[in-house]
Amino acid sequence: MENTNNLLINAKSKSYPIYFGNLSSYIEHLQSILSKKILIVTTDSIAKILLNDFLSLLCRNETSNPNRNISIDDIPVCIIQDGESNKDLSHIEYILDCAFRAKLNRNSLMIALGGGVITDMVGFASGIYQRGIDFISIPTTLLSMVDASVGGKCGINNKYGKNLVGIFHQPNEVYIDSRFLTTLPKREISAGFAEIIKIFACFDFYLLEELDKELQMLESKNNQKYIQAMLLESSMLTTIIQKSVMLKAKVVEQDEEERNGSRAILNYGHTFGHAIELESNFTQYLHGEAVSMGIVMANRLSCKLGILNQKIARDIESLLYRCGLPIRYKIKDIESFYQSFFLDKKSLDSKLHFVLLQSNPNIFASLHNDIDKDILLETLHEFS
Ligand code: GLY
Repeated sequence: MENTNNLLINAKSKSYPIYFGNLSSYIEHLQSILSKKILIVTTDSIAKILLNDFLSLLCRNETSNPNRNISIDDIPVCIIQDGESNKDLSHIEYILDCAFRAKLNRNSLMIALGGGVITDMVGFASGIYQRGIDFISIPTTLLSMVDASVGGKCGINNKYGKNLVGIFHQPNEVYIDSRFLTTLPKREISAGFAEIIKIFACFDFYLLEELDKELQMLESKNNQKYIQAMLLESSMLTTIIQKSVMLKAKVVEQDEEERNGSRAILNYGHTFGHAIELESNFTQYLHGEAVSMGIVMANRLSCKLGILNQKIARDIESLLYRCGLPIRYKIKDIESFYQSFFLDKKSLDSKLHFVLLQSNPNIFASLHNDIDKDILLETLHEFS
């Protein structure tokens, strides 16, 4: 049955649906996809836990299935090792190689079954394969459900930094089935919350306050359990995901290619977060964890500049902490950390750009490109 919360994103380049709810309720539609050549791209860990169920769903012997002759073994699958450190050009080559071996044509389709790394890589690979073919996104992590799968930003990393090479390529459809989250490690649920907190803080602070209250209520009812486990048992998580995706969808509709400033706001916490990821070689932290510490740093800078009330900064920090996220990063080398800000895409014009939260009296985020170097360095020193 169709979910009434399903959304249609009207981006400039393409309109596409976001379907919420149990993937099997969309079986007819998913099975019809097999009339095209497809390539499923996933990671080794997702392959172990979700791939077979997904393949069985595609090939289930329904009377409505127009492609009953296709069996699981006929569907090509490309498996990438887990990890942000694999989100690079060599793995894009590998996906392209799988696509050529599977003889995908310009009418074919790639399916991204996985988290943010897979979503970004499949978006990128499908966007350049034979000058661009379609792709469908089936996010399996909280972070990819609320952020990476929506909006068509498909970036990969290189030695100069995070997501510095990439394209905009919108998916044709996105399926968000929050039941997948029950297979996720607790740490991954927390990482997704960093992006939810980011988008609520920037675009609807009331939702952030609601989230805080709801989490406190959950905690007081089940005080001995992990917050992530409590969330998975509640229906709250699905609603939070839907609200977060709705906000992101609006931003993408207003500024698909990050040209008029509104989409750039989604980088709140990311300039610091990307520097953390670079300094730790993309291996130590999940992206959401780096964003969490980046939000704390950005808020510290806002407080130093006198544009953010300290209590709000403390409240956000404690919410991040309660969601199981790290909130303190110890910078190893201040000078190279500072220099890495200039590698951020927003700063390639040699000016530093930071998205900062303000409270005067409304709470909103905006882009700043005139931050005094001394204040910035002072902030960094507080994290060294
Ligand atoms: N992840 C930020 C964006 O999609 O713009």
